[in-house]
Formats: sequence, C-alpha cells, structure tokens
Amino acid sequence: MVEAGGSNPPGPIGDGMKATAKANANIALIKYWGKRDEALILPYNSSISMTCDAMETITTVEFSENYDTDTAIINDEELSSDQKRVYDHIGMIRKMAGIKEKAKIVSESNFPLAAGLASSASGFAALTVAAVAAAGLKLPEKELSIIARQGSGSACRSILGGFVEWKKGSKSSDSYAEQIAGKDYWKDFRMIATIVKEGRKAISSRSGMSQTVKNSPYYSGWLSSIEEDLNRMREAIRSRDFASAGSIAEYNALKMHCTMMTSKPPIMYWKPATVEIMNAVMAWREDLESYFTMDAGPNVKVMCMKKDEKELCQRLSELEGVVKTISCAPGSGAALSQKHLFD
Ligand code: PMV
Repeated sequence: MVEAGGSNPPGPIGDGMKATAKANANIALIKYWGKRDEALILPYNSSISMTCDAMETITTVEFSENYDTDTAIINDEELSSDQKRVYDHIGMIRKMAGIKEKAKIVSESNFPLAAGLASSASGFAALTVAAVAAAGLKLPEKELSIIARQGSGSACRSILGGFVEWKKGSKSSDSYAEQIAGKDYWKDFRMIATIVKEGRKAISSRSGMSQTVKNSPYYSGWLSSIEEDLNRMREAIRSRDFASAGSIAEYNALKMHCTMMTSKPPIMYWKPATVEIMNAVMAWREDLESYFTMDAGPNVKVMCMKKDEKELCQRLSELEGVVKTISCAPGSGAALSQKHLFD
C-alpha cells in the first residue's frame, strides 16, 4: 500500500485510468456541527477526531470512454442518479483533471452505513483518493483533504491517520485537516462503536445541522464554548491524558445533542438503547474508566484504554438492545491499494 498525499504516486496504478483506495472512518472527539457555507462545506467550528482502524471503506474508480454514464455500486447496491453527492464529487474531480471520461465506482465498507458511524467520512475519503489517482492527478494531503471535505465535511479528517484536527479556516483553500498525533502516538486509546437495534438514522447529519443552525437558541452557546473544548482536547491528546480527553469528548457530544433537541422540530437521535449505554458507562466509571460520544444516529461510541477493552466490550454486549461492538484503535490515513474491486 502507498500512503496517500505528499508522496502519493502519479495517477493511475494498474491499467489505464483506474485506481483503488482504502480509508478508515473517523469519530469526532470535538464535533463538527453546522455549516457557514453549505455549498463548499465550510464549518462554523473546527473539530478533532480519531481515525478508527477497524472501520474501513475500499473504493475502486475507473474512468473510461467505454462508459456512457457514471455508475456507482456501494455495498452491492447501485446508487440511483438522484443520490447526487457521489456523482457531483466525481464530476468535480473530472473537471479538475480536465478529462471527459465517465466513471465506474465500486465501494465496500465493513461496517453499517448511514448509522451515525461516519460511513460518509471513510466513503468520501476513499472516493477522493481513488478518483484523484485514477484521473491522473498527483496531489498533496492538504488538497486531498480539501476535495474530500466537499463530498462530506467529516471526510476531510479521514485523509489522515491518528488524531486529526479539521481547521475551520477562513475560505475553502484553508479549511482542511491536519494531524495532531500519528496513530502510534497513543496506541492504547480505544473507540468502541456500539451498534444498537434501531441502527439507521432518520434524519441526515446534513439536514440536522442545517436546521439546528437556523433555529436552536443554544447554537450560539455551542459556538462560544467550542474554542475551550478544542484547546483542552489538543492538550489532552498531546499529554495522553485519558480522563481529560474522555470527559471533554463526552461533554462536547452532549452539548451538540442539546442543540439538536432544542431545534424546531426537535431532532432526537437517541433510542432507549442509546440512553441505556450512556447510563451504564457513567455507572461503570467507578471501576472501569470509559466515556461515551454519539453522532447523528442512535449508536454510541465508547472510549476506553486498551487494558479495559475486553471487559468493556463484554459488558456492552450484555446490555439490552446492543447488537454488536466494533473496537477500534487509532488507524492509518487514506491510502492507495493495488487490489481493485472489479476487473
Ligand atoms: O460530514 P457529515 O455530514 O457526515 O457530518 C458529521 C457530523 C457528526 O458526525 C455529527 C460530527 C463529526 O464531526 O463527525
């Protein structure tokens, strides 16, 4: 495998204009919530995440004059032409490369999609790295992050491994992700994605955040307290202080969900199992230190140190409504791969 970015090789690997990339999902410790520019996907606030090694998307893109239209097959299902985001993204990269050929895209993820598990992050990061290479472009990580951001905001963070900050920037060209610490810096950190029965989300993060920005009276409180959360999180990562990182992440997620619940109409992603997990994690903290975070969906991600991982997964799987746990260590950034998903 070849790391994306900086040293990524010239365009196509293999035959013609075809390339494959892998990207891991990322889970935010300090959330991105709200766009100041919906078209360019520029956020109101910077965010910090961990790239997760056990949640991966692999995508192959081929541009060819043999294709009459763009087609995308995601986890064995063909996307309809009204699922525009993927096709818009391919169109943008085609334009940057100055090519005309249509694309075939095949993508597979090893974890549930559209469940608040950051599938669009790994999806658009893998799509960006594969499509850029297939189109014959050679771009540094910063540019890949800027392109991925325009597919799905959180995807700009999945270009990099370890602990990552997406700087909100002042315009499109300076709103991208940078690494705070590589994946080996804090190897014992674990993020356990805890999947609940009612897995799929009802309202997309895109419309959820747009509505919150428009009418939650607490959105201003979110923004006015975010710089302190970001500063404290950067420091907690640098000093590998788990109690600080976990408690700041947990509080930040609760603040984000409060802005959603107080928008009109209210957005409530939590299901009974979500609340069950949050309460259990708080109760266990006496003898097992862990913290929770949630995104735009009912699943919960629980943070712990490696020494407690096994015991915590066991306890989580015994809770009512928990279907599965996926335990992740800090993972690598997006990278090209030689193994295509189709001939
Ligand atoms: O990039 P999107 O549209 O998938 O939005 C992600 C929003 C959250 O997952 C809720 C927060 C985050 O920073 O990942």
